Amino acid sequence: MLKPLRVEVATGDDLRAAIPDLARLRIRVFREFPYLYVGDAAYEEQYLQTYAEAPGAFLALARDGEEVVGVSSALPLIYETAEVQRPFLNTALNTAEFDPGDILYLGESVLLPQYRGQGLGHRFFDLREDHAGALGLRVKTFCAVQRPADHPLRPQPYRTLNAFWQARGYTERPDLQTEMSWRDVNEAHATPKPMHFWVKKD
Ligand SMILES: CC(C)(COP(=O)(O)OP(=O)(O)OC[C@H]1O[C@@H](n2cnc3c(N)ncnc32)[C@H](O)[C@@H]1OP(=O)(O)O)[C@@H](O)C(=O)NCCC(=O)NCCS
Repeated sequence: MLKPLRVEVATGDDLRAAIPDLARLRIRVFREFPYLYVGDAAYEEQYLQTYAEAPGAFLALARDGEEVVGVSSALPLIYETAEVQRPFLNTALNTAEFDPGDILYLGESVLLPQYRGQGLGHRFFDLREDHAGALGLRVKTFCAVQRPADHPLRPQPYRTLNAFWQARGYTERPDLQTEMSWRDVNEAHATPKPMHFWVKKD
């Protein structure tokens, strides 16, 4: 039988203490399709430092006993990296539509495979959306990597999370896009990956 997981919210010192767990789970879970990410501990440390230092940073931690088996993150967009902020700043259209100061960026949800399918994905969204409300931020967004339908490493069969995200009230916005660079498991060097944003407004 599945053991119930404990879910905790971490901010401040608790969040900083959980950063090695987030790095470990990102490297482990994002190795799977569609991310195919070859984890780089130095990059992880630098990127996640943003979370450690930014006001409004938030983690939800799922624990099996003491072990952290899932993490979900969020950060006010204004503290995110340039490539995450870019689509919300660049065009006249988007500048009119979005106030960057009114946006919570949902960084990632990473849960070990054996714990999936018990509602943790929903719980991670609930907690991050509550956090947006507590900060008074009315827009929630995240981005997802775009992979071709015939990608050689796409599992068969493969079910995307798109229906889940739609059911959560998020709209895919192919007009809001950026690139992020990392090395895929079948690449020799890091290459830029196209990312689309999904948006939910109050
Ligand atoms: C995203 C993730 C945290 C969700 O965790 P989870 O335990 O599967 O979440 P839930 O049990 O709450 O299920 C959420 C939804 O996922 C969908 N889902 C469930 N099993 C699925 C599967 N095998 N494949 C695809 N989607 C599935 C369902 O739509 C489900 O919603 P529903 O129960 O209302 O129909 C987890 O799947 C994960 O770590 N995935 C890999 C990393 C990733 O892609 N993260 C998201 C982008 S950062």
